[in-house]
Amino acid sequence: MAFAKVALVTGAGSGIGKAAALALAKEGYAIGLLGRTKDELDSVADNIRAGGFEAMTLLADVSDEKQMGAATSELVSKFGRLDVVVANAGINGVWAPIEDLKPDEWDQTITINLRGTYLTINKAVPHMKSTGGSIVIVSSINGTRTFTSPGATAYSVTKAGQLAMAQQLALELARYGIRVNAVCPGAIETEINDNTDIRSKDETKIPVEWPQGNIPVSSGQPGSSEDVADLIVFLAGDKSRHITGSPVWIDGGQGLLV
Ligand SMILES: NC(=O)c1ccc[n+]([C@@H]2O[C@H](COP(=O)([O-])OP(=O)(O)OC[C@H]3O[C@@H](n4cnc5c(N)ncnc54)[C@H](O)[C@@H]3O)[C@@H](O)[C@H]2O)c1
Repeated sequence: MAFAKVALVTGAGSGIGKAAALALAKEGYAIGLLGRTKDELDSVADNIRAGGFEAMTLLADVSDEKQMGAATSELVSKFGRLDVVVANAGINGVWAPIEDLKPDEWDQTITINLRGTYLTINKAVPHMKSTGGSIVIVSSINGTRTFTSPGATAYSVTKAGQLAMAQQLALELARYGIRVNAVCPGAIETEINDNTDIRSKDETKIPVEWPQGNIPVSSGQPGSSEDVADLIVFLAGDKSRHITGSPVWIDGGQGLLV
């Protein structure tokens, strides 16, 4: 079946990806929900369908080329086109002093966050060239505006790399009417911290503390996934038609303090 507009969201089972999928569905996009955890994806799909909108689940690891190729083809053959890609799946991984960070730990963060983003776009672009569209990469303030998360070297490198990818591809893909931007969240209330392995924090902690909390616009409180989803909807749609290759920090001013 062909739909008017179709979006692919990676890491769509939780946090920012889930909020972006729900928000895009409300805007009328048919959504491909891609991720590794079936029950989470099924629950988001049920939620979208309950609102009278369209979704399909795509079980894939973003760092696996075959799985990403198959998932993207399945989405396009079911929904008929691809207009928007939200490259959101990612992990914090291990945060540790550089001499203690193991090569396998380094590789895992780079593989999921950077290779995963590259593969998401690599498989999507052939389906977008004839119609144009918008790619939104979920980067971070880490590696683009702040460098203060203790031991987060591998993570920051991937987030800096994602912004570089957005800027490089913005120029390469402009001729096809494809825009590429990066959203760079500060602290957002999700489950990502449960999946973070932090070691020897005292050795890498930057000794700076802001006396009134470190998120000026919200009295120190983190943002929500819905805050980020609203920005993603804006960058996905025509209201952002003249914006490409841009980082948009969404951190309540947090990144300006450090
Ligand atoms: N929460 C924050 O404070 C924050 C701040 C800045 C940037 N971010 C970025 O936002 C993005 C989403 O994170 P979140 O905070 O919503 O956390 P989250 O853990 O809720 O979401 C990440 C999602 O990605 C999925 N995922 C992880 N590895 C995958 C893989 N190999 N293949 C497919 N799916 C995979 C997970 O299953 C999960 O659903 C990440 O890229 C993260 O770096 C988050």
